[in-house]
Amino acid sequence: MFILSFVGCCAGWCNYILIIIEWPVCRLPAGRFFLFCTLILLRKSVDIDLNSIHIPVMVNEIVDGLQLRSGGNWLDGTVGDGGHSRIILEHTGPGGYLLGFDKDLQGLKTAEQVLDSYRGRFKLIQGSYANMMEKLADENVGSVSGVLLDLGISSRQVELPGYGFSFNKSEDLDMRFDKSETLTAMHVVNEYPYEILCQIFREYGEERYSKRIARRIVSDRPLRTTSDLADLVKQCIPGSVNRNPATRVFQALRIEVNGELDDLKVGLVGALSLLEKNGRMAVISYHSLEDRIVKNFMRDNSQFCECSKNIPVCVCDLEPELRLINRKVITPSKEEIDGNRRSRSARLRIAEKIV
Ligand SMILES: C[S@@+](CC[C@H](N)C(=O)[O-])C[C@H]1O[C@@H](n2cnc3c(N)ncnc32)[C@H](O)[C@@H]1O
Repeated sequence: MFILSFVGCCAGWCNYILIIIEWPVCRLPAGRFFLFCTLILLRKSVDIDLNSIHIPVMVNEIVDGLQLRSGGNWLDGTVGDGGHSRIILEHTGPGGYLLGFDKDLQGLKTAEQVLDSYRGRFKLIQGSYANMMEKLADENVGSVSGVLLDLGISSRQVELPGYGFSFNKSEDLDMRFDKSETLTAMHVVNEYPYEILCQIFREYGEERYSKRIARRIVSDRPLRTTSDLADLVKQCIPGSVNRNPATRVFQALRIEVNGELDDLKVGLVGALSLLEKNGRMAVISYHSLEDRIVKNFMRDNSQFCECSKNIPVCVCDLEPELRLINRKVITPSKEEIDGNRRSRSARLRIAEKIV
């Protein structure tokens, strides 16, 4: 029994503590089974908690890229659990002030605790970064020294119950960042017409089998849970060794439910107009659709001329507003990916306002 337990527990430092506790009591025959089960359950809950802690990605690259320094107003458009916000506050003290946005009220409550030692130097606002211009005007903040957008979902939102983002557990099809919004994944899946479902899976999930999946959804309605949907997708798509076949469909639904790509387009424009001269924006994206929007936005705003090549003299008089800090996208180091697998798809782009 002890050997079994040892094998089951040999990953993670906390499990060694369990082994130490387990060792003397395991020799009492009557207590063995009960203790074994209790410790395995305890170990499982510890693992879940550890998984749900969001580790901020590419921290050094953000510190350098945003040129964090003492003083100024700084904006974190996607506070999440406050990991990057904490880094910003740490590097901008004593005078730096942080304004943080997130759609997820629960995340902001976690962030409030994480940032507690910086009380007085930050304000967290529930809402979309797409509305940051109006919200900052309400706060009488006219410009900021740097903006960070770390897109997508946090580990907490994937691991903790109530969000319905994960195909690894059975929950209601929800997928809202902001619980006060009315559109849920359950509504999309059960009410949208076939053609729109196809379009969402194709455009937001880049899913090859969008028609097959949409057809099956329409015929199997109603679908209530994440596992109903994940099982259905699995039956429609040839298996893949590396990723769950439902990955793309879940991504597409999340984008639709939260209006993620529209928010990003509006948010980038807002970030650019809020930046002061020499201020920088850093955007971390996690899939090609987001990264393409960021790349095109930064490229379009850093061009000197958009006249056709057939015109010999420039007539557009375009003045670029941005300078690209990295021409090639920045990705996490191998060491970072080894320590935090969730960082593996992160892509960072940075640009500086030059006017
Ligand atoms: C990858 S997490 C950010 C993690 C954070 N940087 C940290 O270190 O803890 C992305 C966060 O963005 C939030 N989010 C997504 N879209 C948003 C939007 N349009 N406006 C504000 N927050 C948004 C999500 O709720 C989530 O908490």
